[in-house]
Amino acid sequence: MLLKKIDIGGLLTPNNVFLAPLAGYTNAVFREMCYNLGAGLTFTEMVSAKGLCYNSKNTRELLYITPSYGGIKAVQLFGSDADYMRRAAESQDVSPFDLIDINMGCPVPKIFGNGDGSALLQDFKRAAAVIAACKKSGKRVSVKFRIGLSAEKLVTADFAKMCEDSGADMITVHGRTRDKIYAGEVNCEEIARAKAAVKIPVIANGGIFSPADADALMERTGADGVMLARGAMYSPWLFAEITGTPVPDRRALIMRQLKDTYSAFGERFAVVFMRKMAAFYTKGMPGSAALREKLFTCDTMEKLEEMIASAQF
Ligand SMILES: Cc1cc2nc3c(=O)[nH]c(=O)nc-3n(C[C@H](O)[C@H](O)[C@H](O)COP(=O)(O)O)c2cc1C
Repeated sequence: MLLKKIDIGGLLTPNNVFLAPLAGYTNAVFREMCYNLGAGLTFTEMVSAKGLCYNSKNTRELLYITPSYGGIKAVQLFGSDADYMRRAAESQDVSPFDLIDINMGCPVPKIFGNGDGSALLQDFKRAAAVIAACKKSGKRVSVKFRIGLSAEKLVTADFAKMCEDSGADMITVHGRTRDKIYAGEVNCEEIARAKAAVKIPVIANGGIFSPADADALMERTGADGVMLARGAMYSPWLFAEITGTPVPDRRALIMRQLKDTYSAFGERFAVVFMRKMAAFYTKGMPGSAALREKLFTCDTMEKLEEMIASAQF
């Protein structure tokens, strides 16, 4: 695909192939790995603005950044109360970040039921107030949203315009409706409508699992860049393949991820998390089902290291 820098309110990304926020996955070590593999921008997973305002330790841990991370620092916040969002955006915890992304796409009932995430698609006024409130922090602000709640209620172009008018410096459009969760075709025409409606950069998201998928999404939407989610979770080296970054030895890469995850978050987290990741990374390889079973019996770093050393990636 055509690689280019993206100008997010004066912040220049090295390229236009981004890593999506992924709850439970885009921790600091994974983000740094993807950045080193060629991702032009990475985001934390969604972080509750209220949780930050109430000083929740679990919430604050999601904001950890590895000291060696070399990229632009972007945090994703969720919430629908403008005051909480402003306070979170201006907080000490968020101060290390260059860019605040606002989640207006999460379909999960608990989030939606609170009026957060994709619920904001049906409340333009509130969404606009949330964006303006985050802008008060002086940081760059982007919005990630879906094309609507359902096929009968598409809002893409109008919502994109509202984001721009409220001060957003970039938008990412996930080309599915809320009721589809993560399944089904991505509606490229709707993403194209967002692109036609605004002057700020538009990033297309949904269904990229190969370099050819990235090419197709760029071509069919006319977007400025793409954002990889599950494709990156299963195969982070996709960034290298799409951006032309040299693809490192996968085993060495995974071993490094295991060690860095251990250093950053301790053994218990590293073992549980990396079992899951190693299972993703070996999906479709010969013998992967048997390997997966064995992987889940590994309960120490030592056993997991042995398993990764002997597995085929
Ligand atoms: C496990 C998982 C966690 C996710 N967490 C977030 C999140 O924290 N914030 C967000 O905006 N989207 C989140 N998403 C949505 C993705 O960022 C992305 O929009 C969606 O998966 C579509 O892209 P894909 O088809 O390439 O996977 C999540 C998706 C998955 C599968």
